[in-house]
Amino acid sequence: MKAYKLNSGLSIPSVGIGVFRVEDAAIAYDTVKSALSVGYRHIDTAMIYGNEESVGKAILDSGVPREEIFLTTKLWNDDQRKGTVEEAIKLSLKKLGTDYVDLYLVHWPVKETYVTIWKAMEKVYREGLAKAIGVSNYNIHHLEDLLKETGTVPVVNQIECYPYLAQQELVDYCLSKGIVPEAWGPLGAGKSDVLVNPVIVELAKKYAKTPAQIVLGWNIQRGLVVIPKSVHRQRQEENLEALNVNLGEEDLKKITALNKNLRLGSDPDNITF
Ligand SMILES: NC(=O)c1ccc[n+]([C@@H]2O[C@H](COP(=O)([O-])OP(=O)(O)OC[C@H]3O[C@@H](n4cnc5c(N)ncnc54)[C@H](OP(=O)(O)O)[C@@H]3O)[C@@H](O)[C@H]2O)c1
Repeated sequence: MKAYKLNSGLSIPSVGIGVFRVEDAAIAYDTVKSALSVGYRHIDTAMIYGNEESVGKAILDSGVPREEIFLTTKLWNDDQRKGTVEEAIKLSLKKLGTDYVDLYLVHWPVKETYVTIWKAMEKVYREGLAKAIGVSNYNIHHLEDLLKETGTVPVVNQIECYPYLAQQELVDYCLSKGIVPEAWGPLGAGKSDVLVNPVIVELAKKYAKTPAQIVLGWNIQRGLVVIPKSVHRQRQEENLEALNVNLGEEDLKKITALNKNLRLGSDPDNITF
């Protein structure tokens, strides 16, 4: 599987399975089990998704050795506000049935704590509870503050990113600092018409791929990790195949030009949760 090197030395597979809004325990279990069986080796969950137990059980039952799986979970905002990072990660690990995660992310930049929380993140990293630490939904100014004030560069910044929200400036900034950008909502989160956009449909025909593969391939070729969510085995296979998309320069630019700064999720500068 294609992977990117993180600045901590670990490798992260460039396609992972996301499990946001898969709260039902049996569906979450089946989703992860099926993803592992079709070849995924990277799972993206979070404490707030409420499915860490199902994810952990599916990993255990899959027969895939734990060390072959890149597992991410995230620190929720309440724990960030309270500063209870160690307690939070230990609870996540207990639910996941493992003694480490490969990547622990600060889920959102809470205004008062997005820099100061990093010391506690560094501690769980030093203790080996997380093999790498990163952030999510940080804009350039958040990253600048973090880099100015602290010692460890986050390995990843997981951001909303799909063709209508290309985030080229933020992506370039991350890449220039050795931070791997990771795209959440890479298919438009089931809320967008991006997969029937005529430019995408045309390129899908041209490359004999599906629209989903084209938009995922575009992000991968720009240097992003993608973590599409699907509860369906066939779509999981389809999305993994995005690794074999090879778009030409002009076509990559055509997709980037679809950008309209259209967020489907929350604005990191104005979170209310
Ligand atoms: N850090 C953050 O703040 C944050 C926020 C949101 C999400 N995330 C992470 O990012 C992951 C992905 O984002 P997301 O789940 O919001 O959205 P997404 O992956 O862009 O889209 C998921 C939607 O697309 C559908 N889908 C999947 N494959 C498809 C295909 N090949 N063709 C057509 N439709 C397809 C899914 O339906 P089916 O399941 O029915 O196939 C689902 O409705 C999440 O699961 C989560 O792990 C992180």
